[in-house]
Amino acid sequence: MRTHFCGLVDEALIGQTVTLCGWADVARDLGGLVFIDLRDHEGIVQVVAEPSDAQGNAQVLQVAADIGYEDALRVTGVVRRRSSVNNKIATGQVEVVASRIEVLNKAQPLPFHAHENPGEDIRLKYRYLDLRTPKMQQMMRTRIRLVQALRRWLDARGFQDIETPILTKATPEGARDFLVPARMHPGEFYALPQSPQLFKQILMVAGFDRYYQIARCFRDEALRADRQLEFTQLDMEFAWVSERDVQDTTETLIRDVFREVMGVELPDPFPRMTYAEAMRRYGSDKPDLRIALELVDVADRVKDCEFPVFTSAANDADGRVAALRIPGGAALSRKQIDEYAAHAAKFGAKGLAYAKIDDAGAVTSPIAKFFGADAFAALLAHVGAGNGDIVFFGAGAYGKVSDFMGAVRLKAGKEFNLVGEGWAPLWVTDFPMFEWDDEAQRYVALHHPFTAPAVDDVADLRANAKTAVSRGYDMVLNGNEIGGGSIRIHRPQMQSAVFELLGIGAEEAEAKFGFLLDALKYGAPPHGGIAFGIDRIAALMAGTESIRDVIAFPKTTTAQCLMTGAPSPIPDAQLAEVHVSVRPKKDKAAQ
Ligand code: AMO
Ligand code: AMP
Repeated sequence: MRTHFCGLVDEALIGQTVTLCGWADVARDLGGLVFIDLRDHEGIVQVVAEPSDAQGNAQVLQVAADIGYEDALRVTGVVRRRSSVNNKIATGQVEVVASRIEVLNKAQPLPFHAHENPGEDIRLKYRYLDLRTPKMQQMMRTRIRLVQALRRWLDARGFQDIETPILTKATPEGARDFLVPARMHPGEFYALPQSPQLFKQILMVAGFDRYYQIARCFRDEALRADRQLEFTQLDMEFAWVSERDVQDTTETLIRDVFREVMGVELPDPFPRMTYAEAMRRYGSDKPDLRIALELVDVADRVKDCEFPVFTSAANDADGRVAALRIPGGAALSRKQIDEYAAHAAKFGAKGLAYAKIDDAGAVTSPIAKFFGADAFAALLAHVGAGNGDIVFFGAGAYGKVSDFMGAVRLKAGKEFNLVGEGWAPLWVTDFPMFEWDDEAQRYVALHHPFTAPAVDDVADLRANAKTAVSRGYDMVLNGNEIGGGSIRIHRPQMQSAVFELLGIGAEEAEAKFGFLLDALKYGAPPHGGIAFGIDRIAALMAGTESIRDVIAFPKTTTAQCLMTGAPSPIPDAQLAEVHVSVRPKKDKAAQ
């Protein structure tokens, strides 16, 4: 149909006849002279229809005058040098003088114009039009290049790409499962995999050392900018390894891929930080190291003040009182400070105390009254606060204070332009093995139940469950968790003990994970691995905040596909076939 791509027409073709296909990006009718920006996946070239065309072809001008946005065209013409060069486009030195224009498909008036942003709902409903825009094309291509580079790297080093089932049994990764009714087994269900975790471990038992898969994962959880119901992992597993083997290899992979796709040189080696240090300094297990702000613990300095909120946290072994100094923060108005408090409240804060030091050194603070003047000045000096700064304080349970002060740190980092340029990767290690779930009144796994504890001894783990450290690790980049993995439990005794500590009794463990416990009995090698979030890495590379921009057909935050209309009701007859009956919807008003 065509001889060249629009975006690749260049000076070397001057004088030649080319045939191009593409969409009419813009058509400008100057009366007797029509300019069309013709666009394909490679870019744009200017087509001109003029009366003086060599063939004296009146048809061309007539057709050109009628062309509308996004009409699908085929154009034949001669390439010539442009009289007014357009440096904004790669083909700006040349234009194509049309001798023939065919409208292959006329476009109806568009629901939105490519050059405007009609809002994400409209963009997702007409995703094909949205994806046509150069910006989306570019972002999707970044993802494609990323996946190509990952595959090339892994294939060249003997990693084996093995598919694992999509219709499977529930794998607990901490989210709800998507269920699929089993027609041939009335009342029974498959689950879509939250990850290939158990299959990849069993592949290590089966002798497929060095596995990888670009794997789709399904998790029925609340959606956010960095979370989708279905997303893609680069899933990897290694046999006969310790954590450093996995980390060193995958760190090199990420460094090499960033160099290839982005031309970016990431640090070698990546910094490393324990979970405890990350929470203490940054209030996050995925700290954005581009922001230089750090939390400062001040329990020692407030434990004798007269503010009960502070003293009770400061004198509690599980409590925390942390301060965050924001240079230049004294410029915040009362209203803006309230916004910080409201933001902290979203992360569990009951309040957010502050002290403002104006340019003359005068201090405004709702908590100054609880301190002697000298003690308060000493506290502010301790956190390094000077004229023009604000200090925020958080007090309460250790985890909660870390969370909300970490959130305040991120907000301040962005709003005060304190986010440094560049790329800041790191490994976070030494995660706690368990987290106490107050609601369920039991331990839950911080990573997943197959992660090995640092201690090898079952009795030791049982005796010290509360403080047990795991062999899990995360890779973090610019404040995003881009990968997570661990060394796994490879002995059945330890796996059973961990199930038990998680409140999964022997019978339930057998029913849910009997196949894993069995597999571990037959000489399972020590093994470990990691999974990277491809959508998240692609979004970072593409410079967008939302992974939806690097997924061709994403779901909205209300878990819908606006283009196809999924999810949608299923006729009764089809439900009956799979032995499912739907409970009547609860009246919304009655809920
Ligand atoms: P984890 O649950 O940490 O580990 O997932 C690994 C990585 O996948 C990405 N990710 C997501 N991306 C988009 N949407 C989501 N809903 C979503 N959830 C996770 C993150 C995360 O770091 N089986 C283990 C891996 C292992 O232990 O080897 C697992 O799935 O970037
Ligand atoms: P009050 O005397 O109760 O008005 O509180 C004084 C200040 O302490 C206010 O600015 C509150 O926002 C703040 N505050 C209350 N609870 C906490 C907390 N848990 N951590 C930090 N600041 C708090």
